[in-house]
Amino acid sequence: MAPSRGLNVGVLLTGVGKRYDIVSAFAQHATVVAADPNPLAPAQYAAHHRYGVPRIDDAEYVPALQELCHRHRVGAVVPLTDLDLEVLAHARLAGELPAFVPDPDIARQTFDKYEAHLLLERHGLPSPPTVLPGQPVDSYPVMVKPRRGSGARSIHRAADSEAAEFFARYVEEPTMVQRFMDGPEFSIDCLSDLAGGCLNAIPRTMIESRGGESIKGTVIADPELIGLGRRVVEALGVRGPCTVQVFRDREIGLGITDVNTRFGGAFPAPMYAARRGHTYPELIVRMARGERVEPHVGDFRAGVTFTRYFWQLELDDRLVPTGRDIVEPPGPPAPRAAP
Ligand SMILES: Nc1ncnc2c1ncn2[C@@H]1O[C@H](COP(=O)(O)OP(=O)(O)O)[C@@H](O)[C@H]1O
Ligand SMILES: [Mg+2]
Repeated sequence: MAPSRGLNVGVLLTGVGKRYDIVSAFAQHATVVAADPNPLAPAQYAAHHRYGVPRIDDAEYVPALQELCHRHRVGAVVPLTDLDLEVLAHARLAGELPAFVPDPDIARQTFDKYEAHLLLERHGLPSPPTVLPGQPVDSYPVMVKPRRGSGARSIHRAADSEAAEFFARYVEEPTMVQRFMDGPEFSIDCLSDLAGGCLNAIPRTMIESRGGESIKGTVIADPELIGLGRRVVEALGVRGPCTVQVFRDREIGLGITDVNTRFGGAFPAPMYAARRGHTYPELIVRMARGERVEPHVGDFRAGVTFTRYFWQLELDDRLVPTGRDIVEPPGPPAPRAAP
């Protein structure tokens, strides 16, 4: 039997940054502890407790998180960025933190898009043809992408070998060269249990993205994408949330271009689409309590569309929110009376 941590379990979210929507969703179901080295990280203000912690590469990082886990009876540590995934994966393996992350080698390989390509191929999962700079390419155009990129940084389309060589030199970090996928792009927001079983996989369209974050999209019930999301997370032994990005190319069909073993940029999509009581934060809180969650892959409301915007907080001279900006926007306009 998994240990029972009782009803008032804590959840520790690391690297909360600007992800106010995720922190506030967890805060409705558990005591939320936010950790971020940046004293101005806005999302920490949605948590019950906020702490500055040492940098991820500091030997004191994991001990500091352990201390917070003891203090707040934390049953789940959930990273909100890629940066500490591997550190948390090692700490999980060592039994130091109840982190919802995959094994360290999976965390490492999915952080490097070329390694991720090889990993997907080894599991028989579709990945677009991908090589390292200088290796022969089957067809153009290609995308020259940083191996360890994020937020759609330094990604360049190249029409021929000359352009590809130029961009590989121009981008000042290791890159890879990938077939340009010609067709619509999707993301599949998945959640797995701690044994690596897929609980749900919710695909969405990418209507508009900015800086690698999807800001408009619609949840769709596409059985091929649902099945692919499940196959990916089960093959990789993901624990907790994972977002799989995929294109449907007009010629070669589905190709996975990015696997992030954390919440994706468009958190509201699976949030709105989940059945009552089955949002990902609620399920993570239940697992943090040691409860078993039944898989319900494909059970969600399709057709939900989200559109995201910026918001802000006013802080006083001690960096405490004044509460003045935390106002609800006006409700939707009343329906117009028939003429
Ligand atoms: N092979 C590809 N073909 C076409 N577009 C791509 C390809 N790879 C990436 N892109 C575009 O670049 C964006 C960011 O790439 P991605 O691989 O997801 O890296 P990041 O880690 O920066 O999010 C994608 O959302 C997509 O729009
Ligand atoms: Mg991406």
